[in-house]
Amino acid sequence: MPLVTTTEMFKKAYEGGYAIGAFNVNNMEIVQGITEACQEQKAPVILQVSKGARAYANHTYLVKMVEAAVQECPDIPIALHLDHGGDFEICKSCIDGGFTSVMFDGSHMDYEDNVKVAKQVVEYAHAHGVVVEAELGQLAGVEDDVVAADHQYTDPAQVEDFVTRTGVDSLAIAIGTSHGAYKFKPGQKPQLRFDILEDVSRRLPNFPIVLHGASSVPQEFVKKVNEFGGNLPDAIGIPEDMLREAAKSAVCKINIDSDIRLAITAAIREHFATKPGDFDPRQYLKPARQAVKDMVTHKLVNVLGCNGKA
Ligand code: G3H
Ligand code: 13P
Ligand code: ZN
Repeated sequence: MPLVTTTEMFKKAYEGGYAIGAFNVNNMEIVQGITEACQEQKAPVILQVSKGARAYANHTYLVKMVEAAVQECPDIPIALHLDHGGDFEICKSCIDGGFTSVMFDGSHMDYEDNVKVAKQVVEYAHAHGVVVEAELGQLAGVEDDVVAADHQYTDPAQVEDFVTRTGVDSLAIAIGTSHGAYKFKPGQKPQLRFDILEDVSRRLPNFPIVLHGASSVPQEFVKKVNEFGGNLPDAIGIPEDMLREAAKSAVCKINIDSDIRLAITAAIREHFATKPGDFDPRQYLKPARQAVKDMVTHKLVNVLGCNGKA
């Protein structure tokens, strides 16, 4: 099947009490690792591309690799999504360039500007058959080289007005998740504001909610990276049971990038340390790709619950 939007995926996920994985893609091995797992598990999937990914791999290469995955994985719906589009222009460029979904991220703007640009993106996107995610509130963590120290939790009182005035198709909210591999301090009890999520979903019935910054930072990867010469002290993610709880609620899209980075880095570091004579990139990228596939398989089955839903 051709690339799809997220409309149908989200409707089924909402009704079925599971979430779709939105995985960031930056190169061929990542695209293959994710989509091979999804094809095997019969899981719908969102492949998402950031501004940094476009700068690294080039828009055309990314689109063509995703198109290749669509061809290789005939049994599953795949959406191609722009992650954190910071202005109208980048959203337009991705809409014109074959994406089926874009995020306009105006979370750094004041409320009225966020409404204004989100509405402009929606008008253009919908006229081209593309869906739009926007964000209210702000996540802590690293995002496109910008570090935000504190969360600005989403104000549930704003969500109806925002969705009505902009016409967005899904909404990312800030409930305590954050970007990157350092989401909580050592000794700090991981907590998410499920009360905000509940309030938002009460105000927006049947409306898909998105969680960014939802990597769980598996400790086996952190341990392996550190064991083989890396330095990731106190990397901590969102506990998987919290993500499972979120996936059962109005949360229909869960964003995962850092866990892919960790899986790849752990595999490559282990390879270099244990096979110092290898110098063919295929030798160490193969286990790295397999590590992505294994990690994604685990998420689909044990965290998101979207296996078998294609
Ligand atoms: O939320 C940000 C994603 O992890 C993408 O990161 O901008 O470094 O590609 P990036
Ligand atoms: P993580 O850093 O938790 O993987 O979040 C990724 C994300 O939100 C991409 O938009
Ligand atoms: Zn994000």
